[in-house]
Amino acid sequence: MRPQFLMTDPARYAVTYRINPWMRPDAWSSNAAELTAQAAAASAALAGALTGLGADIRWVPAAPDLPDLVFPANAAVVLDGVALLARFQRTERRGEEPVFAAAFERLRAEGLITRVATLPEGCFHEGAGDAIWDRTRRLFWTGFGQRSCRAASDQIADVFGQTVVPLHLATPRFYHLDTCFCPLSGGEILYYPPAFTPAALSAIRQRVAPADLIEATDEDAARFCVNAVSLGRDIVMASAAPALKRTLTERGYRVRDLDLSPFILSGGAAFCMTLRLDLESAAPAQETDHDHANAATPAL
Ligand code: ARG
Repeated sequence: MRPQFLMTDPARYAVTYRINPWMRPDAWSSNAAELTAQAAAASAALAGALTGLGADIRWVPAAPDLPDLVFPANAAVVLDGVALLARFQRTERRGEEPVFAAAFERLRAEGLITRVATLPEGCFHEGAGDAIWDRTRRLFWTGFGQRSCRAASDQIADVFGQTVVPLHLATPRFYHLDTCFCPLSGGEILYYPPAFTPAALSAIRQRVAPADLIEATDEDAARFCVNAVSLGRDIVMASAAPALKRTLTERGYRVRDLDLSPFILSGGAAFCMTLRLDLESAAPAQETDHDHANAATPAL
């Protein structure tokens, strides 16, 4: 099956409130018409890059007064056809819950999703933005301490029957795990160490060999390059500094970087503008744990 992604029509996107330090409602309102057009172009460029790599995009229709609906990574955690719907910690985003629930109901009717699960009331968790599936290690890395609660990690372990490694996020600047942590298909992790507490850093270093840890610089993190979509040997991200591109190219990746600046004004970029719908926990048949780095046809 071709990789399947959920994206949201950006027609009603805007930056109208400030729930993370990157958000710039002032910058938006001073130039709204132009930024709206640029956002449409940036979203289309991202969708085009993904379809160019062989993926299919499912679109959530735009809805009024839900400007952050364009970040469907926060809609749910999805694995093996099961979608665990998010519960937003921020009241500004709670109106997105019924919209995404309806979208998942349609995907279930279509057969792409087999089961839709929910979290207990008061157990906040903001979807794949704070629960990233690592295909190499076959586990979820979860972020907590900013938007998502620690207890949600146990719920995720229960619902999916998978190992979960909770990582305490140290700062509101990196409020979702996907802003500072990105597993790549060859087993490397691109991450931004200052975003994590010492305990989280040691949990990462316990499970990932030093050679597989790629440190993002302050600039890479501020450009939202860690918030990337990894698709086999291709990585789609916001405009990257030459050094990061070089590092990734030397490791055998193709970097496709795009101008996603209208979305960075809201604190988001490539990864969180999408939600992968077809991830499977099982290792692909031809793949073993030893040949990831050198696989001729790495898993998507
Ligand atoms: N303005 C949005 C918020 O603060 C941006 C969300 C970006 N999503 C993500 N998974 N990083 O919630």
